[in-house]
Amino acid sequence: MKLNIGLLRGDGIGPEIVDSAVKVLEAVGEKKGIEFKFTPYLIGGAAIDATGKPLPEETVKGCLASDSVLLGAVGGPKWDTLPGGIRPEKALLGIRSAMELFTNLRPAKLYPALKGDCPLREDIVEAGFDILIVRELTGGIYFGDRGMREGKYGEEAYDTECYSRFEIERIAKVAFEAAAKRNKRVVSIDKANVLDTSRLWRKVVHEIAADYPDIECTDMLVDNAAMQLVRNPGQFDVIVTTNMFGDILSDEASQITGSIGMLPSASLGTTSRGLYEPIHGSAPDIAGQNIANPIATILSAAMMLKYSFDLNSESDMITDAVDKVLEAGYRTADLAHGGPHLTTDEVTAKIINALRGEKI
Ligand code: IPM
Ligand code: MN
Repeated sequence: MKLNIGLLRGDGIGPEIVDSAVKVLEAVGEKKGIEFKFTPYLIGGAAIDATGKPLPEETVKGCLASDSVLLGAVGGPKWDTLPGGIRPEKALLGIRSAMELFTNLRPAKLYPALKGDCPLREDIVEAGFDILIVRELTGGIYFGDRGMREGKYGEEAYDTECYSRFEIERIAKVAFEAAAKRNKRVVSIDKANVLDTSRLWRKVVHEIAADYPDIECTDMLVDNAAMQLVRNPGQFDVIVTTNMFGDILSDEASQITGSIGMLPSASLGTTSRGLYEPIHGSAPDIAGQNIANPIATILSAAMMLKYSFDLNSESDMITDAVDKVLEAGYRTADLAHGGPHLTTDEVTAKIINALRGEKI
């Protein structure tokens, strides 16, 4: 089997963590007879520096011609003062949209080995949690009409949220299908007490829910959801929500797992080609120091094997190896609380040893 993977290393710690995931994929390939061909493309600040554009045409073409794409992170202080249209983050939205990846799966579960890293009360930690956030990714306020204008008080800026029935239907279906394979509960999160988009969201989600009688569907307002995630995260199975609420709530969910450095994501559309990336950012403060946690990106590569290529046992090899390394007590700096910790390269090597069945 031969697979062409586009690599978007991006900025900050992006190149380090993507290279770690590449090494892990190569080790899986070696063991299972899969030939990975990795082709790098420029994105974000690195692309701005080289070409003047955050998302060069060649990158879009390359990603669309790949079997799947692995991304690190984009952005950094160097490009923070550029106008919105040519900021690195714009490239991320651009590539998600160009690849038509309307679904973003963000699993957040508490690893038994990381229970001590969860900032929540002991009884909540003991109860545990395993949540799948289904975030809508190509609509809402991220993609609505925006701009600057003169208003009642002079200069003003605006961003608008818009959701069509079609966009809500297709993301709701993804959530119900996912719940069917899990604990059969969907919580749809909105702000229907204020927003028209949320009122349509809620109505359409319930219409879709009617096609899934075995799945429990409830609504929750986003402010309450932010509270419930720390009060009782074990109540959630699948969460489905809008682009911006999903962005915010997934960072919150990541913190209760111990570190944002642990959470992978899969962005999917209607084909098997996806975009896989950690949910964290480019962490420019620690870039180039070989101390970043590569696990979120390594787990994103595991999600790629599963969701793009149906390589389930190969995907499990990676997740099992990560489990073993964590259980053996190895930690990167983000999880070491000032104690001894491994470098990015060292923890990657441990994960590769584990998946080869060698001594960790
Ligand atoms: C994420 C990031 C991005 C987002 C930014 C960098 C545009 O925060 O993937 O969660 O908001 O989607
Ligand atoms: Mn985010």
